[in-house]
Amino acid sequence: MVINGKGIAVSYTKNAGKKINSKSYALKPVDIKIVPGEVSFILGRSGSGKTTLLSVLAGLLKPSEGTVLYDAFDIYKEKDDDFSLFRNKNIGFIPQGQSLIQTLTVRENILLQARLSDSGSDKSKKADELINALGLLDRADYFPKELSGGEIRRCAIARALINDPKVIFADEPTGDLDDDNTEIVFDLLRQKAKEGCAVVIVTHEESAIRFADAVYRMDAGSLKLSA
Ligand SMILES: Nc1ncnc2c1ncn2[C@@H]1O[C@H](COP(=O)(O)OP(=O)(O)OP(=O)(O)O)[C@@H](O)[C@H]1O
Ligand SMILES: [Mg+2]
Repeated sequence: MVINGKGIAVSYTKNAGKKINSKSYALKPVDIKIVPGEVSFILGRSGSGKTTLLSVLAGLLKPSEGTVLYDAFDIYKEKDDDFSLFRNKNIGFIPQGQSLIQTLTVRENILLQARLSDSGSDKSKKADELINALGLLDRADYFPKELSGGEIRRCAIARALINDPKVIFADEPTGDLDDDNTEIVFDLLRQKAKEGCAVVIVTHEESAIRFADAVYRMDAGSLKLSA
């Protein structure tokens, strides 16, 4: 699946005191094309618009301007229900913050995502493979509050991969991981691209650029493809 962001922008109107409403852009109009089999990296300082861009591309935040196409499918033109199912089946999203359901264990959090895709197939074996690959075997029956930050992060990664998505968005997936786990996660995402996924990773790890097929840099809402 090829993703085409055309002229996508996100602006917010803030009341800057006394009747003055100022419009500011979290994302200035950008064009971006994400293709299968490639890992694209997005780098940039805090507040430069990385999460905003990722959310728009993943169908989680409707842009104020522009369109996002998945092949010919205009994701923000579809009915919410149709798009939710499409998203659960095709898009794996690893969010920046804590996003697990507190009342479910690691394994249950991962399997819930499988159920939401409506595929009907039993994903417990696949869940166990991911739990193992991400070093969570002895934590599979723990609840989020019993996990470390890095364990929570790895569970969110397993959850994003359970449905074999065609597109993976990862927002600082290694932010709270040690070097060994960082390597494991980048290897896994690289492997997914080899299998034909389109992978987009927001990261601060300059050293990870060696894994990238394309590197973008964001600065104050603008996006540049770096050489
Ligand atoms: N709901 C909102 N209303 C107003 N401004 C917002 C809103 N959401 C985000 N912004 C602004 O948009 C800008 C970009 O935010 P974004 O989360 O995309 O940054 P980021 O590059 O992901 O930063 P970080 O590296 O810290 O995660 C920020 O300055 C933020 O304050
Ligand atoms: Mg962010």
